[in-house]
Amino acid sequence: MCGIVGYYGPENPKDVILGGLKSLEYRGYDSAGVAILNHGEFKRVRAEGKLSTLQKKLEHEAFDGHLGIGHTRWATHGAPVEKNAHPHTVRGISLVHNGIIENYLELKEELGPQAQFTSDTDSELVAHLIAGEIESTHDLLASVLRVLPRLQGAYSILVVSKDHPDEMVAFKNGPPLIVGSAKGAVLVASDVQAILPYTKKVVYLNDLEIAHIKGESFEIYDSRGQALKKVVTTIDWTAEQAQKEGYEHFMLKEIFEQPRAVARALAPHVDVAKHTTNILENTGLAERFHGIDRIAIIACGTSFYAGQVGAYLIEKLAGITVTTDIASEFRYRDPVLSKNTLAVLISQSGETADTLAVLRQLKRLDVPVLSLCNVKNSTIDRESDGHLYMNAGPEVGVASTKAFTSTLAVLHLVAVGIARSRGRLSALDEERYIRALLAAPAQMETVLACDKFFSEAATTLKSYRGFLYMGRGVNYPIALEGALKLKELAYMHAEGYAAGEMKHGPLALIDARMAVVMLAPSDGLYEKTLSNLEEAKARGGVIISIGTFGNEKLRDLSAHYLALPRAEWSVNPLLEAIPLQLLAYHVAHALGHDVDQPRNLAKSVTVE
Ligand code: G6P
Repeated sequence: MCGIVGYYGPENPKDVILGGLKSLEYRGYDSAGVAILNHGEFKRVRAEGKLSTLQKKLEHEAFDGHLGIGHTRWATHGAPVEKNAHPHTVRGISLVHNGIIENYLELKEELGPQAQFTSDTDSELVAHLIAGEIESTHDLLASVLRVLPRLQGAYSILVVSKDHPDEMVAFKNGPPLIVGSAKGAVLVASDVQAILPYTKKVVYLNDLEIAHIKGESFEIYDSRGQALKKVVTTIDWTAEQAQKEGYEHFMLKEIFEQPRAVARALAPHVDVAKHTTNILENTGLAERFHGIDRIAIIACGTSFYAGQVGAYLIEKLAGITVTTDIASEFRYRDPVLSKNTLAVLISQSGETADTLAVLRQLKRLDVPVLSLCNVKNSTIDRESDGHLYMNAGPEVGVASTKAFTSTLAVLHLVAVGIARSRGRLSALDEERYIRALLAAPAQMETVLACDKFFSEAATTLKSYRGFLYMGRGVNYPIALEGALKLKELAYMHAEGYAAGEMKHGPLALIDARMAVVMLAPSDGLYEKTLSNLEEAKARGGVIISIGTFGNEKLRDLSAHYLALPRAEWSVNPLLEAIPLQLLAYHVAHALGHDVDQPRNLAKSVTVE
């Protein structure tokens, strides 16, 4: 979704803002722009498409001021063309906006026909409203305080005024905004990445809070204008962690980081000498796990599929009912939840609008919420009752990879923890599962060797008409995730299916132009999966199988065969995820697509 950067300080605002926008590129966008002080006016430069186009336009532009704002836009109202790019300027007011103003038409009508609009956006309307107020208040903060109660929707906004050349006002309801101060400088951004090169100390704005930046200092107010005392958070990510480190794409770097990420995800919760886990205690909700009769896992996208793997693990190991729901469905279906339900919300960004809405709905229903996020202090993390972290470090590629496998590792520990606390798992079995998990990072390293295979096979694979991904049990959600990855990155039709369901429809699709990716590790369901594979092969499907090392039969049946190291059934998903990510990455790359920023997609989906 849109990226916002604002800067006041001694450095060249053009460079700071462009650098900040660059670090927010991963959020997804289709146009960009800046407004920077020059000779007492805000000079605005905007461009359709990638940041490089804006950068070219700015090459010969000089600014003598020390304050400016910038934006990468992900189109919601109005096409992704220059006139709709931010900042929007109305009578000396310039602003950038992320989100949607829901009562935009109503407010536009109130402004009447004399208000001249130059874009098709809802954002410009807010600039009109603030410009209207400032004519009487002559005060930027006071004007925002008057406009704020009139806005409905999810938004974060940063506004400047040419008559207040050392001020910025930032406010939000929904999408995140943070303020950080460095030596003689203040930065505002929609994500820490943009601020990290300057400072690690940031303040997170809550909904309906307003940051007023004046020169090198800032104050935070509530919506009635009362000054607030806010906690300053220290970020533990480094700016370097968010760089490509020699990899061609962030996604490839993040795929290769997975062994380390999974090890980091496990580390805080495992006693490596005793092979036990204390993960339930670490949630801050340990006592709530007693007496629950149901766990409701709710998430979106890749996090949802990780949740589905978690459901298989928890149900099987701990013998407790687990339901999984897509957040955008759950929030509108009047869910019936018993008093003894514990909700687990999964979100790498911690900002996904639908998941956040579910969190607030659950709180109204008095259901305890444990969140599993990658971004610490994100809104979902802050508002939950209990907290777990993926610990994957910054993930920049839009398509989630290391956050996914880290989530699988944490959910596996949760399953072991609950199973132990309910007396469903012996100490010996706990040790067996923990040993298997601790061995996973090294096994993942060996699986990464299939990178070479997929980079070569991609030229053939890219010409298939479509892909069917199949698996059973705990491998089934991995099939769904594999198909999602190929759709997201390669823009090819791909479907994930429970292998046993193939005969109820998808079998009709199979011919020599359809690739069938079969997840067939040697686990309790292997024989069943094998017969599904033979059915697909008999209909002429091209079989790409992923099995366990030493399975010659599978090799003989398949056009392409990848062997995974022998692992506990519950750890196989961690290993299978890697070849599926690499398959999607290389096919997309071979097709010439932008792997880190797939078209139409965003990393942090802060609108409904
Ligand atoms: C977007 C991203 C996906 C992610 C999904 C859920 O669609 O592109 O990679 O899985 O949002 O995001 P969350 O931050 O809630 O895990």
